[in-house]
Amino acid sequence: MPKVAKPRHTPGADGILLSAHAVHKSFGALVVLDGVDFTVARGDAIGIVGPNGAGKTTLMGALSGSHTLSAGSISFCGTDVTHLDAARRCRLGVARTHQIPRPFSGMTVFENVLAAAVHGGGFARTAAYDHASDALELCGMLKLANRRAETLGLLDRKRLELARALASAPVVLLLDEIGGGLTDGEASELVATIAILQQRDIAIVWIEHIVHVLLQIARRLVCMDAGRIIADGDPKTVLTDASVVDAYLGGGH
Ligand SMILES: Nc1ncnc2c1ncn2[C@@H]1O[C@H](COP(=O)(O)OP(=O)(O)OP(=O)(O)O)[C@@H](O)[C@H]1O
Ligand SMILES: [Mg+2]
Repeated sequence: MPKVAKPRHTPGADGILLSAHAVHKSFGALVVLDGVDFTVARGDAIGIVGPNGAGKTTLMGALSGSHTLSAGSISFCGTDVTHLDAARRCRLGVARTHQIPRPFSGMTVFENVLAAAVHGGGFARTAAYDHASDALELCGMLKLANRRAETLGLLDRKRLELARALASAPVVLLLDEIGGGLTDGEASELVATIAILQQRDIAIVWIEHIVHVLLQIARRLVCMDAGRIIADGDPKTVLTDASVVDAYLGGGH
């Protein structure tokens, strides 16, 4: 693993890395996050489930800085980061993948990942190359390093999303539906990769509709519905919670 060349922020005695306090987000008249409190602590592996439109991706945007908040605050290692944009939060160690992959077209896979190491991670030349190569290797993408990103299929675009997030050397990694459409074998490979990240002390927050895959990683499960967290706890308890069955599992998922 490459050397970490940027200052690392450390959690306080409570171990809390990232937290949302009373977060509200509206798009015009549409209330999408309606008072969300959420914490990610060191060592966490959190799964997020909930029906389509529940606000899961929007919560990820609020945590990562892609969305400004309508009300509430976000802190990272005890520091208020509410007004820091996504690029600055990424430098601190909060990285995300996008539900709809967003590679830079016209650049190779390696250049995409290198850009993430430099601009997202803040690494200088050699460290950036090391982080980019490591991320590609972890995601099984070394053989695709020289391919133009726009020629990749959806699966490899999702792998590239993960590799780009990893190249920034995150402390907290927010994953948005990177498992959709995978075969059983590919899902097992993805789970094995994420397990390695956990061993590297990266806290994981993973939104995924494929619950049986998610549960191979998640030690805590959060269910959202209509902009609120309706259950948060150990996966067994959450999955048998009456409000979760009603809002999510009863809906044919
Ligand atoms: N930029 C935006 N502008 C307007 N409305 C938005 C925007 N982003 C999300 N929404 C709306 O907010 C609601 C929540 O969307 P979000 O993407 O957070 O849901 P989700 O839980 O991630 O759903 P899914 O499981 O389908 O990915 C939806 O009604 C969506 O249409
Ligand atoms: Mg979503």
